[in-house]
Amino acid sequence: MSYQETYARWKSDPEAFWMEAAEAIDWVEKPSRALSAERAPLYEWFTDAKVNTCWNAVDRHVEAGRGDQLAVIHDSPITHSTKGITYRELRDRVASLAGALRAKGVEKGDRVIIYMPMVPEALEAMLACARLGAIHSVVFGGFAANELAVRIDDAKPKAIIAASCGLEPGRVVHYKPLLDAAIDQATHKPAFTVIFQREQEVAKLIEGRDFAWHTFQYGVEPAECVPVEGDHPAYILYTSGTTGAPKGVVRPTAGHLVALNWSMKAIYNVEAGDVFWAASDVGWVVGHSYICYAPLIAGCTTIVFEGKPVGTPDAGTFWRVIQNHRVKSFFTAPTALRAIKREDPKGELIGDYNLKGLRALYLAGERADPDTIQWAQRHLGVPVVDHWWQTETGWAIAANPLGIEELPVKIGSPSVPMPGYDVQVLDEGGHPVPAGTLGAIAVKLPLPPGTLPTLWNAEERFRKSYLNHFPGYYETGDAGYIDEDGYLYIMARTDDVINVAGHRLSTGAMEEVLAGHDDVAECAVIGVADELKGQLPMGFLCLNKGSNRPHGEVVKECVARVRDQIGPVAAFKLATVVDRLPKTRSGKILRGTMVKIADGEPYKMPATIDDPAILDEITEALKAMGYPRG
Ligand code: COA
Ligand code: AMP
Repeated sequence: MSYQETYARWKSDPEAFWMEAAEAIDWVEKPSRALSAERAPLYEWFTDAKVNTCWNAVDRHVEAGRGDQLAVIHDSPITHSTKGITYRELRDRVASLAGALRAKGVEKGDRVIIYMPMVPEALEAMLACARLGAIHSVVFGGFAANELAVRIDDAKPKAIIAASCGLEPGRVVHYKPLLDAAIDQATHKPAFTVIFQREQEVAKLIEGRDFAWHTFQYGVEPAECVPVEGDHPAYILYTSGTTGAPKGVVRPTAGHLVALNWSMKAIYNVEAGDVFWAASDVGWVVGHSYICYAPLIAGCTTIVFEGKPVGTPDAGTFWRVIQNHRVKSFFTAPTALRAIKREDPKGELIGDYNLKGLRALYLAGERADPDTIQWAQRHLGVPVVDHWWQTETGWAIAANPLGIEELPVKIGSPSVPMPGYDVQVLDEGGHPVPAGTLGAIAVKLPLPPGTLPTLWNAEERFRKSYLNHFPGYYETGDAGYIDEDGYLYIMARTDDVINVAGHRLSTGAMEEVLAGHDDVAECAVIGVADELKGQLPMGFLCLNKGSNRPHGEVVKECVARVRDQIGPVAAFKLATVVDRLPKTRSGKILRGTMVKIADGEPYKMPATIDDPAILDEITEALKAMGYPRG
């Protein structure tokens, strides 16, 4: 069946489409229907089913005779080690960890925060929660203690599972002191923590509160899979919004299973027994969906890679992993390829490896620039699929579904909507615009299975952030257009979210941190174009009247402050002091105009600007920082 036919089939009867996809899942109690629309515009899927995610991701493959197949391969160029875990071993390890958590009181519905680097134990922790019906929330290791504390207070976890340390090239990330600081700072206190001690750094444990991963499991009864309702939250994943408070995206259990399983064949064209690799981090949605859950649900082998695209040890690392582990489908962020391309422009290192098994490369997380796509096409000789999605959706909104049909590629476009997504481009009044016209990208409700039904403990914020602006639609926060052939083009965000090296960050959150500095009266953070990372944050600081501190000192403290309070992942290194910020007469800071000046793009003088002369001052300040580039 062609893509057009598949999409039309979904559109003519969405419920039948998803009920059919649901047949690939092992249910404890089968759903009697797909969609629950009683609370529209809030929707849920497969609500009357009973199911367990861990059973579907692990146990059922052992039962089906895949016990000796590798489920997980850990490849760590940072520690110079590789190890494999079979499905049988994974089941036993997860059942044991789940048993130990249960013995300490963790039950269905309890939250568990996971703060771990790229080790297989991170997946085991996620799966152990899933086994018990506990709701995990993984926090990315590049966030600072403060961000962890904010998540602890929102999720109110019974337990926190962490590693003693993470390993970045040239530096050990001391997780345990970060964890201790976060628990001190948070109002909510977890009942206990479980610490996975890595040999690179053994952390000091607090007696009675912290338990070591192995001793904690000693002598416990392994746990069986606990059936949960279809709409039971599988996990919460916090993502950046407009303000400093992150949004807790809720992932529903049954829709997640059905949609991810469907996507593995339809989009990534892999089946049980194939090796699938997403070079991301478990702290991001790509890591949740395509390092942990989807490959395992589909019975594939997944790779947990602890390294960087360059420097661990060189720009050939990705190709080595693909060759050595016979990767069939590979997923990474464009920024990673740009880093490789910069070090190996002619792709010479690619020639050192046998990549015959590789069938396709998938890119997402940020806009894929044409140069990078063409470089990959030329040197890898496989289809390069740009696909577009978000933490909120958990799987692709638009893609080139190679497992259904390989559509012609249009460079610059993540191709076409997937079944489940009726994507429309709207004007400010919420009316669909003609092909080729720029507007806000929205998805007609209901969203498909697997997407967020709400935000954790914040239904009103969910409605306000996504549903209220365009009634009947989900607002993606992205702007772009659809061409005459139905291909989508994602051009920009409509909010204050920026994308730094494939990481989604809030400029609003950085402004809140900067505004907390004693000498800063007012500030603005914008995202400026960057050749490697896509965007970089840049801060403009107006100091208090009485402040006579040297500007360089304040800038340095502000940079340190963002690193300390948000984390190194913010990559906030550019800031300058200015006298005034450009504003409209009603006081709105003209961030969009500042971005255009910094990127060297033409801009129209905003009609509502209060004092146009301030733009000249901003232009001068940017020049002093070397912007626009080139
Ligand atoms: N734990 C602790 N710190 C982390 C971290 C983690 N898991 N991940 C990144 N950091 C730190 C880095 O060490 C760096 O710190 P520094 O300022 O001391 O150098 C900082 O956060 C910024 O990291 P990053 O933006 O990743 O830049 P980088 O300079 O380390 O590497 C690239 C640049 C392009 C190679 C890298 O960004 C990359 O591989 N990105 C892939 C993006 C990706 O997979 N995104 C997932 C979305 S699909
Ligand atoms: P995240 O929630 O971190 O996955 O970030 C989602 C955001 O990243 C989207 O809303 C887009 O702004 C951007 N994004 C993700 N994939 C793409 C893509 N293929 N092309 C353009 N932008 C993308």
